[in-house]
Amino acid sequence: MAIVCKDVVKIYKQGQIEVQALRGLEMKVEGGEMISLIGPSGSGKTTLLNIIGGLDKPSAGYVKVFDKILTLLSPKELVEFRRSTVGHVFQTMNLIPSLTAGENIELPMIALGVPKHKRRDRVNELIEVVGLKERINHKPGELSGGEQQRVALAAALANDPRLILADEPTGELDSFNARIIVDYLSKINKELGKTIIMVTHDPIVAREANRILRIQDGVIKTDLAPAELEVSGQASYIDMLQRRIAEINKQLELLDADLKKGLITGDSYVERQTNLKQTKTVLIEELHRLGVVH
Ligand SMILES: Nc1ncnc2c1ncn2[C@@H]1O[C@H](COP(=O)(O)OP(=O)(O)O)[C@@H](O)[C@H]1O
Ligand SMILES: [Mg+2]
Repeated sequence: MAIVCKDVVKIYKQGQIEVQALRGLEMKVEGGEMISLIGPSGSGKTTLLNIIGGLDKPSAGYVKVFDKILTLLSPKELVEFRRSTVGHVFQTMNLIPSLTAGENIELPMIALGVPKHKRRDRVNELIEVVGLKERINHKPGELSGGEQQRVALAAALANDPRLILADEPTGELDSFNARIIVDYLSKINKELGKTIIMVTHDPIVAREANRILRIQDGVIKTDLAPAELEVSGQASYIDMLQRRIAEINKQLELLDADLKKGLITGDSYVERQTNLKQTKTVLIEELHRLGVVH
């Protein structure tokens, strides 16, 4: 078993307010599996990925990844686990703007103390894997969203991790670039035998996995084979975009309400509102591109 989660609870405390993001979650993943994690926004997907990736600790429960019981590791051991075992691809591309594509891919290897000549060879190999050889000296700002996400994927692979965690890696990309990213993940899974957990909103993307786990209210509610996932009543790509915009509008309203009730600070209000509005703009642009006037 690559991953075992037993009765995992995560409670976030913000002043007086407690949010229970995971509520006794159970999950098992075998080595070499590719899993899609789906579920509504706020259901705990990112929280779960961060716990499995050693970025965050659960409030209670048991988490084992390969031979490591994460819930018993010291902060230092967790850092080591993360660097050596996990490749994390985030929704918002976490590349360093002042570094080139090649340097961004090199960074995780510097953190692990890989010698310079080995790093250079590995960067050259990985940039070819993601088809961006000609872009090696470009900075993220000079790359398209899809290309940036491919660089992020190459960086996640740098230390040859056994586990790849991808949090909505295709979230803000158009369907063409989303396809490319998912194809790479599939290829990494099949050809290199990496265990992959991918969070996605898109049922068509989700079906690329061996299994689809649906999380709701902090627990896994269903465990489906790809063929079992409804794609019929679904959900063209356009419907999916429109549903996400509706969800974001709802979150914006909730955020306003939280601010009025004094539940969040002005700073975090502005930050979250800016993030949501940026995502919404990208989604609306994508709808426009597809000829839908929203
Ligand atoms: N750092 C945090 N502080 C407080 N609450 C948080 C924090 N991160 C997430 N939450 C809350 O935990 C719940 C689950 O969030 P998350 O794991 O991000 O969901 P998802 O990725 O499925 O959208 C939500 O209610 C969210 O608002
Ligand atoms: Mg999330």
